[in-house]
Amino acid sequence: MPTPSRASQQITQRKQDHIDAMLQDAQIERNQSEFSALRLMHRGLPECDIKQIHTATQFLNKPIAFPFLIASMTGGAAQNLGQINRHLAEAAEACQVPMAVGSQRAMMLDSAAKQTFALRQYAPTVPLIANLGAVQLNYGFGVDEAKRAIETLEADALYLHLNPLQEIIQPEGDTNFLGLADKIHQLSQQIDVPIILKEVGAGLAPQDIELGLQAGIQHFDLAGRGGTSWSRIEAHRADNPLGFTFQDWGLTTLEALKLSQPYQKNAFFIASGGIRNGIDMIKAVIMGGRLCGVAAPLLKPALSSTEQVVDCIEQFKQEFTTAQFLLGIQNMDDLHLNNALFIPNM
Ligand SMILES: Cc1cc2nc3c(=O)[nH]c(=O)nc-3n(C[C@H](O)[C@H](O)[C@H](O)COP(=O)(O)O)c2cc1C
Repeated sequence: MPTPSRASQQITQRKQDHIDAMLQDAQIERNQSEFSALRLMHRGLPECDIKQIHTATQFLNKPIAFPFLIASMTGGAAQNLGQINRHLAEAAEACQVPMAVGSQRAMMLDSAAKQTFALRQYAPTVPLIANLGAVQLNYGFGVDEAKRAIETLEADALYLHLNPLQEIIQPEGDTNFLGLADKIHQLSQQIDVPIILKEVGAGLAPQDIELGLQAGIQHFDLAGRGGTSWSRIEAHRADNPLGFTFQDWGLTTLEALKLSQPYQKNAFFIASGGIRNGIDMIKAVIMGGRLCGVAAPLLKPALSSTEQVVDCIEQFKQEFTTAQFLLGIQNMDDLHLNNALFIPNM
């Protein structure tokens, strides 16, 4: 058994390895989101003024500027990981968008890692989301760890990420996913903020949503395939060919969105995985995503500065607003499940 500090060092090293892999292998980005196959109904007479396009919405009872979410990435006992989180948090506040952090498991073992998740000081007004791996509920984590994760971030919600494919490829992966729905249900009754169930790039199936709903969960981040491939990232770390074989496994974000539509009345869906510009975003919103999570495109800007993250988010916003204007939709709420905005197959 590693000592606590060894275990924490391992987790921090893993977070660094993930970033290095992403910077070194361009094919971790799969470019297979299939958003481009959906065609939008351009309007030549949009009957609206771009200055009055209303993109604002609410998330976790807080106003946000447009339906964008800085998706979970990192945190851990290393200076660059802390810097990334600070840049992301400052940009979240500047742009008035929510932000989620990467897994907080490292901070349970090392107080140095905890600092990198103390982000409320940089983002006082926007929704912040804490994050733990759901599978850790089968490996000793419970309500205490969840409360510590939430308190450190002063979070508005807790992500429990579901990553069975990633754990299988990881040499040190935790692969017992038995009985988790029950434990998620118990946990949800003992904490004060909503739990959001999230995949990490292979998508949630309708059966997962049903299990989640039965466990009292109302928020889901579909995190489909098409963008960052975690299987491929872990294949590099583990030198495990299985990770390359499974690099395109899973439901695309579009497939997951389509399959989530029967549950739209009972749940709040976040679309993420392969969302690369404001046009992808608007398609995901029309398909039922109330928010769009973006991870990989923010990594390089976050390694650099807060301003670069702000520029990247503002570009998404400009693209989203332009697309909304060209569809002739003044209010963001009128995008939701509005299938008439797609060109039907001829
Ligand atoms: C560098 C990096 C680190 C990530 N770390 C986590 C994590 O710790 N926990 C988590 O739930 N998701 C994590 N993710 C997954 C993302 O939140 C997201 O679900 C996935 O990357 C798909 O989005 P994308 O295609 O926009 O990158 C990470 C993504 C990146 C790029």
